[in-house]
Amino acid sequence: MSHPLEELRDNALREIESAHDEKALDNIRVRYLGRSGSISAWGEQMKTLGKDEKPIVGKLLNEVRNALTAAIEERAQKFRVQKESDTLATIDISLPGTPNEIGSLHPLHQMHERGIQIFRRMGFALAEGPDVETEWYCFDALNTPPDHPARNEQDTFYLSDGRLLRTHTSTVQIRAMECAPPPLRVIASGAAYRRDEVDATHSAQFHQIEGLYVDENVSVADLKGELEFFLRELFGFETEVQFRPHYFPFTEPSLEVYVRSKALKRGEHWIEVAGCGMVHPAVFEAVNKARGDKAYDPDKWSGYAFGLGMDRLAMILFDIPDIRLFAQNDLRFLKQFA
Ligand code: DAH
Repeated sequence: MSHPLEELRDNALREIESAHDEKALDNIRVRYLGRSGSISAWGEQMKTLGKDEKPIVGKLLNEVRNALTAAIEERAQKFRVQKESDTLATIDISLPGTPNEIGSLHPLHQMHERGIQIFRRMGFALAEGPDVETEWYCFDALNTPPDHPARNEQDTFYLSDGRLLRTHTSTVQIRAMECAPPPLRVIASGAAYRRDEVDATHSAQFHQIEGLYVDENVSVADLKGELEFFLRELFGFETEVQFRPHYFPFTEPSLEVYVRSKALKRGEHWIEVAGCGMVHPAVFEAVNKARGDKAYDPDKWSGYAFGLGMDRLAMILFDIPDIRLFAQNDLRFLKQFA
């Protein structure tokens, strides 16, 4: 005949085996192994047993307790595994994943890179200067008199300390010449700022590619030939380039550059893309004054300079109708240049 504890064990094991969920299993655990459960009751009962019986029943009680504990744990583990695979079954691994959004270069940045690449091949080095400038670099050194309209507060953003947001990238010409003696062949590309009425072709922040070449015997022919080469590299060989007389304080003579091309959607009519000219001797003298030497002797050196409107170039190249699109961060627009 089997001991009642063995019977209890067999019943419990059957119940554990047929428990259909975690909750049912936990009820069984409490009923047998809980503080007022059957196994604990047997523990109490042990105290009443005689000397001979005690170790035998004690050993059996331990075995039963261990057997039940192990069986409950095993069953619980089964439930956990089942739960996990049920969850996994709800995931359709054949669905396409969520792709990472990969950004792309802004069209103005692409324009900058294309421009730089062409000028590099022509032997220009890259120079740079800050957006916040002093009047010296923006106007005085560029032979722009104090009463020149460009210096008007209506046209330029001044900071309270007298500095200003550069109105053109020509500032970098002066910085480059202050740093290095001639011959010099540099370009600079970046933002410029003016208090312009904002519309489809005007923005308070725009971008320029500035160029400066100083050497012996540099002539207008060099200027025209090299700008023409650049514009044809950029827009295609059919591009026509026209130079029209103009006035800038820092060049003499001064010219404006226009392009036209049947191959371009936005190039049917002449479009102004740059200002340029031969560096004014007064600019060389201002640089000499700042350097404290006579490195840029206007009798020995001559140079040409130009400032290309980068937004304009990009609008022609990529057929963009409105300059404001560059600054609106509209992904529908930006994604077209990815
Ligand atoms: N700085 C002029 C502007 O923003 C453009 C320009 C004209 C730049 C003549 C030059 C230059 O370097 O020589 O309108």
